[in-house]
Amino acid sequence: MLNFVQQLLGCLAALYVGWRILRFFISSKSPLDNIPGPASESFISGNVEKIMDPRAASGYQQGLVERYGRLFKIHGLFNAKWLYTYDPRALHNIFIKDQDVFEETDMLISMFNVLTGPGLIATLGDQHRRQRRMLNPVFSAKYLREMIPIFYAVTHRLLDAISSRVENGTQEIDVLGWMSRTALELIGQGGLGYSFDPLTEDKADDFADSIKAFFPVSSQIPAAFHQLLPWLVRVGPPSFRRKLVEMAPFGVVQRLRQIIDTIHARSIGIIDEKKAALEQGDEALKEQVGEGKDLMSVLLRANMSASAEDMLTDEELVAQVSGLVMAAMDTTSNALSRILHELAMHPDIQEKLREELVQVRDDGTGSLRDLEYDEVMELPYLDAVCRETLRRYPSIRGLFRIIRKDSQLPLSAPIRGLDGSLIDIIPVTKGMLIVTDIEASNCDKETWGEDAYEWKPERWLKPLPSAVDEAHIPGVYSHLMTFIGGSRSCIGFKFSQLEMKIVLATLLPAFKFELTDKPIFWNAAGITYPSVGDYSTKPELPLRVTMIKA
Ligand code: HEM
Ligand SMILES: *[C@@H]1O[C@H](CO)[C@@H](O)[C@H](O)[C@H]1NC(C)=O
Ligand SMILES: *[C@@H]1O[C@H](CO)[C@@H](O)[C@H](O)[C@H]1NC(C)=O
Repeated sequence: MLNFVQQLLGCLAALYVGWRILRFFISSKSPLDNIPGPASESFISGNVEKIMDPRAASGYQQGLVERYGRLFKIHGLFNAKWLYTYDPRALHNIFIKDQDVFEETDMLISMFNVLTGPGLIATLGDQHRRQRRMLNPVFSAKYLREMIPIFYAVTHRLLDAISSRVENGTQEIDVLGWMSRTALELIGQGGLGYSFDPLTEDKADDFADSIKAFFPVSSQIPAAFHQLLPWLVRVGPPSFRRKLVEMAPFGVVQRLRQIIDTIHARSIGIIDEKKAALEQGDEALKEQVGEGKDLMSVLLRANMSASAEDMLTDEELVAQVSGLVMAAMDTTSNALSRILHELAMHPDIQEKLREELVQVRDDGTGSLRDLEYDEVMELPYLDAVCRETLRRYPSIRGLFRIIRKDSQLPLSAPIRGLDGSLIDIIPVTKGMLIVTDIEASNCDKETWGEDAYEWKPERWLKPLPSAVDEAHIPGVYSHLMTFIGGSRSCIGFKFSQLEMKIVLATLLPAFKFELTDKPIFWNAAGITYPSVGDYSTKPELPLRVTMIKA
């Protein structure tokens, strides 16, 4: 039996590869033939290997962008022709105007489906729209305001944890590790009304560990199987697929199964607990972590009064639990780490920011107080530092979209085709892939000026270049594509602003952050992360931390 499964999977993979090769030879003519772009680097992986290579991707892509501009052609797997763009008008069509045409790829959707179930990040079309309708209000400023005490409670524990480590003098601390734990606990308490990590002691949590392990473990599965996934998840009834997975004679498949089972079981547990409390009334909810102010409690209450067509099924609700943790944790912790790393490299800016924070937090008796929502959100220099970091170093540097039906992609300004003609509308065909480059949009010199690739918080303290306004960047946040735009934009972007600002406002008056002599390397993976020295699969950011006040 085991042999049979192995052979079946082998056959499927071979068939798929054969089909791709065949298609390459058959469809040699493409509407993109006239679009300039780099030569292919390999028959099998085109330019993709370089684009995905965490060691070099950043420099490689910046080189392409500088050479070819806002839209060009690259070679995908088996040299399929892909588009690469950061043209604002094209981005507007992709993310907002025609977002049903330019959708999330099946591979990503089915991967998230396997991991989380049918939540926001794992659904398309009407199902996704319906979920967004239910969830959008939950993420509004109204509920965020109420979350302030939860955020402070978590951040004070972080403050105590770091204080206890540097109480006798400067220590080297893995800042990324602490930011990850904090981001997890903030989405845990604020998002789910659930505590994963006390922060004050080291305690492993199998749900958190499973979420962290999912991508590293699934990347050990050969790429061909990832490509097959959208198809495999449709074979037979769930019970059959489950059997198939249970029988799969590969260690990594069994490890993945454990990961997914752990995540699923805990997600159900979290929801069941919330529901039980809710049934007993608001008082019972207030006794729980999050005091009924967390997003999940708000969502459960909203669902109770929702119209029949808007209601979420249990399965959809459970899927939001791991979906939210997945979406919120590494993005935020890497952004926070990037800010602290930049501040360590720019001590003058760190000091200026600290002065702003200490001054406004001074309660008049020599102690520091916690800031209200509006105060912390409106501090100009804190805002400039956050904005500039999210601009220059978006945690997610780029995204894939697949074209679901033949269509057209208009450009803000024409490009010159290989035959010398001017092109301002690109015909695109079903099945074609598009890489949208978030970083290149955020750092476009035509829009932001010659210093676009420099990290300069000061640029936000004066009026932005008029080109920024005129470019009509379709991002939800601040002319930036960091959280993209449209109905798949980051639903948690206000949540993440608030948590980052509260963490920084709490830590910077208490500690000084400095570089160690270990060089830091930022790996250009799906979510950019730091490591020591060179490319590494071990994310870490050691900084020297010194307590400031006695
Ligand atoms: C610096 C921090 C963050 C960054 C840079 C970021 C960025 C993004 C981006 C680029 C997307 C679009 C992904 C795609 O289309 O494939 C996205 C989606 C999403 N983000 Fe964030 N995010 C951050 C923090 C958060 C937080 C804190 C939460 C939750 C509280 C969150 C929840 C989500 C969800 C649920 C989606 C899926 C939305 C949908 O498909 O409708 N994110 N995020
Ligand atoms: C700091 O010094 C005190 C007294 O010597 C000691 O008890 C404590 O463990 C030290 N803290 C750390 C983090 O080393
Ligand atoms: C949403 O509310 C309806 C009606 O109160 C209920 O039947 C359904 O189970 C709820 N869905 C979830 C996921 O709790």
